[in-house]
Amino acid sequence: MLNKKIMIAGLLSLLSACGGKDPSPQTAAKAMENPWPKLQPALPADPEMEKKIADLLSRMSLEEKVGQMIQAEIKYATPEDVRQYHLGSILNGGGTYPNNDKFATPQDWLDLANAYYEASMDTSHGGVAIPVMWGSDAVHGHNNVIGATLFPHNIGLGATHDPELIQRIGEATAREVAVTGIDWTFAPTVAVVRDDRWGRTFESYSEDPKIVREYARAMVEGIQGEKSSDEFLGGQKLISATKHFIGDGGTERGMDRGDTLASEEELARIHSAGYIGALGAGVQTVMASFNSWNGVRLHGHKHLLTDVLKGRLGFDGFVVGDWNGHRFVDGCTLESCPQSINAGLDMFMVPSDWKALYKNTLAQAQSGEIPMSRIDDAVTRILRVKMRAGLFERNKPLAGKKGILGSPEHRAIAREAVRKSLVLLKNNSHKNNGGLLPLDPKQKILVAGDAADNIGKQSGGWTISWQGTGNTAADFPGATSIYAGIKSATEKAGGEALLSVDGDFEGDKPDVAVVVFGEEPYAEWHGDITSLEYQFGSKRDLALLKKLKQQNIPVVSIFISGRPLWINKELNASDAFVAAWLPGSEGAGVADVILTDAEGKTQYDFTGKLSFSWPRLVDQVPLNLGDDGYDPLFAYGYGLTYADDIEIANDLPEQGESYASGKLEDAWMMVWRPRAPWDLVILDEGNAPLVVEGNLAASDDDNIRVSAIDMRNQEDARLVEWAGLRPGGVALRADKPQDLSRYLEAGGTLSLDVRVDSELAGEVYASVTCGGDCLGKLPLKESLQKLQPGQWAPLSIDLQCFAERGAEFSRIDSSFVLESEGPLSLALANIKYVPGGADSATVQCDT
Ligand code: BGC
Ligand code: BGC
Repeated sequence: MLNKKIMIAGLLSLLSACGGKDPSPQTAAKAMENPWPKLQPALPADPEMEKKIADLLSRMSLEEKVGQMIQAEIKYATPEDVRQYHLGSILNGGGTYPNNDKFATPQDWLDLANAYYEASMDTSHGGVAIPVMWGSDAVHGHNNVIGATLFPHNIGLGATHDPELIQRIGEATAREVAVTGIDWTFAPTVAVVRDDRWGRTFESYSEDPKIVREYARAMVEGIQGEKSSDEFLGGQKLISATKHFIGDGGTERGMDRGDTLASEEELARIHSAGYIGALGAGVQTVMASFNSWNGVRLHGHKHLLTDVLKGRLGFDGFVVGDWNGHRFVDGCTLESCPQSINAGLDMFMVPSDWKALYKNTLAQAQSGEIPMSRIDDAVTRILRVKMRAGLFERNKPLAGKKGILGSPEHRAIAREAVRKSLVLLKNNSHKNNGGLLPLDPKQKILVAGDAADNIGKQSGGWTISWQGTGNTAADFPGATSIYAGIKSATEKAGGEALLSVDGDFEGDKPDVAVVVFGEEPYAEWHGDITSLEYQFGSKRDLALLKKLKQQNIPVVSIFISGRPLWINKELNASDAFVAAWLPGSEGAGVADVILTDAEGKTQYDFTGKLSFSWPRLVDQVPLNLGDDGYDPLFAYGYGLTYADDIEIANDLPEQGESYASGKLEDAWMMVWRPRAPWDLVILDEGNAPLVVEGNLAASDDDNIRVSAIDMRNQEDARLVEWAGLRPGGVALRADKPQDLSRYLEAGGTLSLDVRVDSELAGEVYASVTCGGDCLGKLPLKESLQKLQPGQWAPLSIDLQCFAERGAEFSRIDSSFVLESEGPLSLALANIKYVPGGADSATVQCDT
């Protein structure tokens, strides 16, 4: 067999030719006038329905109208609240369940949905009957409900390049949701991601607007039905909320909820693609985004919400807000935001504080601060959607049919999607026998890595819980791990699959190792990262790959991730490498492709192709198809098949540190949560350090307690409480020494937000430690005393202060330690090293 070494650069130019093209000069010239296409409403006007809506509206009180514009969360609003306040909608947030019971049955969900519905239709106290509309994040199947089929996240679906399959997934999801009586899904996300450091990259189909447009259309047609068919918005279907309008995938440095700096032409050309597809399919609702566009929050952006979306793009459904998203609009608070409604938002998503917002909105409507015409328009749109979707008739033929949830038919679709989403990045030859893959199932296969038998990890965020963390095998009845799929196939063929997370084995050497590893689950900003480097710092999985290679065991890597990451080292240490994304509940789809049948015949070849460019360099962000100097490791559209005879060199450059290019990003130690390689640990004198794993931990006798609290967003800060029994504190500590000298050289600072919640009894110290007795320690009490008690304030310390006191930045093991000698209560957030800023540090070095 031929064994040609192809330079990856050559491969790339070959493959990138199939990607999207820039618009032609003529379209560009036209775009200068108005970058947005002029679209007609997707559905023809229905005068009969409009008359009914107008009639209803004329009989509604202002209280009823404002109630329709409020969406509250099931933890914070009862059916009685829905009745009394005429709430237009309720939602369950990620990880909220009926009766607060994670194991709530489909019937429990349905009972609750029925209770809300009946309350909304109860006119025994007067008023007009308007059905409440329940929304849920069914973003990869009905993912809040135990036992549902979990499809691959959108990034995996993007790699399938199969819109017909995406449509079938939408249909199956709609059927599973319909079992629980829920009306509406907050999906699909149609972000066109520009910077893969964004924590929501996995919710996006692609960096290529062209296919986002096509897949958004397919998904909406699956969820709502095809608009020309009788099934459109019928009993087997759901209402879709396409989200997050607009520019969510374009924020600076991929910061969730950040600012998208772009011209209007770019906004239209890149970020509107999914909406064009979804609107064409007749999508009924659009969710406004948290992000800003050039400094102005979308929740208050009249031009984009009203002139563009409802005007130019012909949208006649309604705009729902995102989770308290209105509170970020200039001049707004959580409880009052006429600006949003006036800008074109039709329904607030206000999970817990809805009563205050309701009252204020009502008062603003009464005073004319919100014009009555705007209120009437919003309510007309809401009623239109409810009527179109048949909510008045509560047309729910699938309600309670629990056999549909996680049915074999749906699981088969998910398994097909897993097979088609896998992208083969590398398949080097083995024993002069073509690529290492596919594997013969009659062999002895070692299955290693902590994602091998871990359905939570293979499913990612938005899985049972919001973050997708905290789940165990018991939370996934009917699901199959990747290991379980390999095991059943090898057993059938007479081979053997041996599970060993750490790769150790007894007895004979296995013929081959399949190592399944990757990112831990995350959602939203919790997934934001500063560096594309996989396991920046720890490199635990790399060590596992190397350990197996050293024993001359051929290694197949199955990489679980929500985005392309810089993995040159892991690639070099693997003979074959598969990007598996976040496959969901049907892990057996992996075995279908990587194993032959018992006769040695390929069962399914790889068909997945990258819908995101894969970085060659760790700091290659943004990296997108069509960029000047586009030079990825694996280009958009790349993906090997068993027919390809391509060797990937085993010596990809491993020097990837971002400072190599002179660009130095902030180093995040704890932003929302501790960031690898840093763990948050409690140091209590005389006790072993205690790693804070969840959102609450305490040392003996509660001497030092750490709990997660909210600063700006949920659980983005930590409260540390010292009882004062023994001195001690908290540290951000790494397993191995880290070289952070570049921050010192860059005139950097340690920067954080603090809030002092108690008297400052004893001295308080900040330090940086470097192994053994090596440390730089600084008294901090005086600086803390100057702060306003109970108020968050930024604090910054020149790294030089620590260096002068003995810290060696080339081998830091704790990037930050905070100790107190007496009782103290103090909150911390946003702990990072920032290049520069030493001149304006807020803490005096000589205190
Ligand atoms: C997310 C949305 C989601 C909503 C409801 C928000 O924080 O941004 O995507 O639909 O919560 O869970
Ligand atoms: C909810 C999510 C929501 C998030 C936004 C969480 O508590 O469960 O649904 O997206 O908050 O802040």
